[in-house]
Amino acid sequence: MVKVSLKEKSYNVIIGKNLLKRQKKKIFSNITGAKRIFIITDIVIKKLHLKNFLKSIPNNFITETIIIKPGEKTKQLKTVEQILNFLLKKKISRTDAIFGFGGGVIGDISGFVASIILRGVRLIHFPTTLLAQVDSSTGGKTGVNSIHGKNLVGSFYQPKLVVCDIDFLLTLPKREILSGYAEVIKYSILSDKNFFHWLKKQTNKIIINDPNVVQKVIKKSIFIKSSLVTKDEKDVKNKRALLNLGHTYAHALEKCCKYSKNLLHGEAVSIGICMVNRLSFILGFLSMNDLKEIEKLFVDIGLPTNLNFLENFKIKKDNIIKNMMHDKKVLNGKLNFILCKKIGKTFVYNKVNLNSIKKSIC
Ligand SMILES: NC(=O)c1ccc[n+]([C@@H]2O[C@H](COP(=O)([O-])OP(=O)(O)OC[C@H]3O[C@@H](n4cnc5c(N)ncnc54)[C@H](O)[C@@H]3O)[C@@H](O)[C@H]2O)c1
Repeated sequence: MVKVSLKEKSYNVIIGKNLLKRQKKKIFSNITGAKRIFIITDIVIKKLHLKNFLKSIPNNFITETIIIKPGEKTKQLKTVEQILNFLLKKKISRTDAIFGFGGGVIGDISGFVASIILRGVRLIHFPTTLLAQVDSSTGGKTGVNSIHGKNLVGSFYQPKLVVCDIDFLLTLPKREILSGYAEVIKYSILSDKNFFHWLKKQTNKIIINDPNVVQKVIKKSIFIKSSLVTKDEKDVKNKRALLNLGHTYAHALEKCCKYSKNLLHGEAVSIGICMVNRLSFILGFLSMNDLKEIEKLFVDIGLPTNLNFLENFKIKKDNIIKNMMHDKKVLNGKLNFILCKKIGKTFVYNKVNLNSIKKSIC
């Protein structure tokens, strides 16, 4: 278990196997007084896991299920509006609860809906992808994409509990598992070189989705994320910002690829981190050794590191840069980059010239 300490908004992230049965008391004590539970999920999860999930909910709750299409393209205001209308039609009350049951897309949408419906109802995340378990379900960032860019409409809204049950990962396609590892490697680069070197030794086990390794990885990742979120919940003190390592590039790439399934979020993050590391090298902060060592870990795990992966999209560099400028991290027309000094040491920097950015995109 990892505690996210945010005074009266503190909550726990529980990690393990078969949690819905083993931790029933703990889970449902977070929504005492609720009569109904509204479960937001997608078609894929419905087919694979919804039946068992519903069975594990005590009989004293009435459940309503909202099923949406899977994928990044669903993460838009139209979906949020549809869900809000459903909840209001069902006369959701402030004492009811919302369960986000799915990957990061479901988590971001459920969190946003929970934060604005009736000005906030209780929320529990049940993340079912590795990416959502190591990253998106913790920290309280919620939201959707806009025509102007990724995650530009949203709120900060902390859940009451996060339940990371690794049994869900058994049905997750390998490509999605690897996508989650991009965020895991990110944590190691931004603050923990020992974790990075440990990951290097685990690549064989990572590739076969070893349950012991995955459990350790989730715990460690959430620990690093929660320590930054605790210091800077609303992302205003340049502490939480470190979690955005590589994300300015990644979000621009996802937008350039029109949120296609051919570029998963983690894959975009993997390429984005390699690009920003090239930028750190070009600006003289990162050594060639560290640059290569990080790239090698991504390659060994089976993640993309450069634009070759996106050959079919024929993306223009100028278009990537244009989309980077729509990022939330632009301040007074200047992009705030998270740069890397060495493995385990990152910092915020905004004195970057356009030429260096162009060179880093390859
Ligand atoms: N809020 C945050 O702090 C934060 C942080 C990182 C990423 N994100 C967001 O998370 C999203 C990416 O999340 P994701 O990678 O989980 O993608 P996703 O939610 O699109 O899920 C990926 C796919 O896996 C399927 N799936 C989910 N669980 C499954 C399971 N157990 N078995 C089989 N299939 C399953 C889904 O239906 C979907 O098709 C992006 O929108 C990203 O912006 C948010």
